Amino acid sequence: MSNLWGGGFTEGPDALLWAYTVDTADHRLIFDDLRGSWAHVGMLGEQEIITAEEADQLQAGILELVEEVEAGEFLFLETDEDVHSATERRLIEKIGDLGRKVHTGRSRNDQIALDLRLYLGRSGAAQLRHLADMATVLVDQAERVGDVVVPSYTHLQQAQAVPLAHHLLAYAEMFRRDAERMQAAIYRTQVSPLGASASGGSSLPLDPATSARLLGWRWHFTNSMDAVASRDFVAEYVFVCAQTMVHLSRLAEEIILWTTAEFGWVSFPDTFTTGSSAMPHKKNPDVAELVRGRSAGVIGDLAAIMSLQKGLPMTYNRDLQEDKRIVFHADDVLAGSLRTLGAMLATAVFHPPAPNPEVTALDMAELLVGRGVAFRTAHEAVGGLLLTLAADGRTFAEATAFDLANAHELFEPGDVSRLDPIESVLHRVSPGGGSYGEVVKQIKRLRSLLAEVGN
Ligand code: ARG
Repeated sequence: MSNLWGGGFTEGPDALLWAYTVDTADHRLIFDDLRGSWAHVGMLGEQEIITAEEADQLQAGILELVEEVEAGEFLFLETDEDVHSATERRLIEKIGDLGRKVHTGRSRNDQIALDLRLYLGRSGAAQLRHLADMATVLVDQAERVGDVVVPSYTHLQQAQAVPLAHHLLAYAEMFRRDAERMQAAIYRTQVSPLGASASGGSSLPLDPATSARLLGWRWHFTNSMDAVASRDFVAEYVFVCAQTMVHLSRLAEEIILWTTAEFGWVSFPDTFTTGSSAMPHKKNPDVAELVRGRSAGVIGDLAAIMSLQKGLPMTYNRDLQEDKRIVFHADDVLAGSLRTLGAMLATAVFHPPAPNPEVTALDMAELLVGRGVAFRTAHEAVGGLLLTLAADGRTFAEATAFDLANAHELFEPGDVSRLDPIESVLHRVSPGGGSYGEVVKQIKRLRSLLAEVGN
């Protein structure tokens, strides 16, 4: 067996060692690996560590490998320890002995740190698009449901009347923040570790700034040991995936509740429900349940990436090979969940029942506050009214002007009209609250932010 490091070995690796240590998960980094090698040899040429002609030939060879990968013709061999070994092996096969210069002034330690940074920049950009699409679905639905009023819930008990659009836009706001966090995570990936070499730099005149420029990045490492040892940029990415999955899971949980006969808020077409092998009447929201279920795995990924780093002495340790499976899993689950739950939500038809009349109780107390009554006194007066009505078996909506006058002398006969949840929404005036005016503002603001993500 031939590998990258056999020169000082008298025996080849045991089959069990090889099977246990070889990584195939990193094959998806092949484009990033080639892009990094292209920049690295460009720097070697500019620094005259190799001749300009050699750099050109190496870059041309690397571009041929890119074409090979694109054509689906690049073959990984069992003797390739990882993606870096595979691309170097193939480059030598392709262009001959000159290929043996590609790894000059480089180590797989700075190479893998770079590959992962390049990959997360690409996948992060894709996640931003998925996040923008999800937020757009929510904004579209908020527009579609118009002036429909629902109860907001606290403690899963009906609380205040709000436009359904306000409820949906709360999720759009969460995903907007997730996108902002993802942008910050991408920003921190764009620091080139090339030139750090194995951990301490090189006796060759490497120029990290040139490598960074050739990658199209402005920044490069300032400490070679940190450059090869640190994975906080990966942890940050996994955190954004986990937090977004948690937001998706909350939305999924609500969708599941809303589709129950008990809530009856929403219906989905057959294309986005699944059936039961036993009960012919069932139409289940399985996509939402799987989003909720899979979020558990991504929360696990966050625990894994944190634990992976915590006991590592400086600098590179092979443990770090495991970061890729973790971040790829988080990344894949998030992309699939955003896309599929977003597509499902786009088909939702909302038809929530009216809120219970009691959701106007706080508004009634605030009416008295407007007439100079202390809030605590107003709260007690409305509480008393609720007790009187309950004793008679009447709902809040059935309160008469007489009941109101009995509850507090400052209630006026016309106040009975305020016992309607729609009136509650119409009288809402505080900024950011659940009023139609605020919904319109939020939609406008989100649409303009979403247009920026698309650019
Ligand atoms: N496959 C390794 C990883 O993913 C690449 C770096 C290996 N470096 C080393 N010195 N063995 O982390």
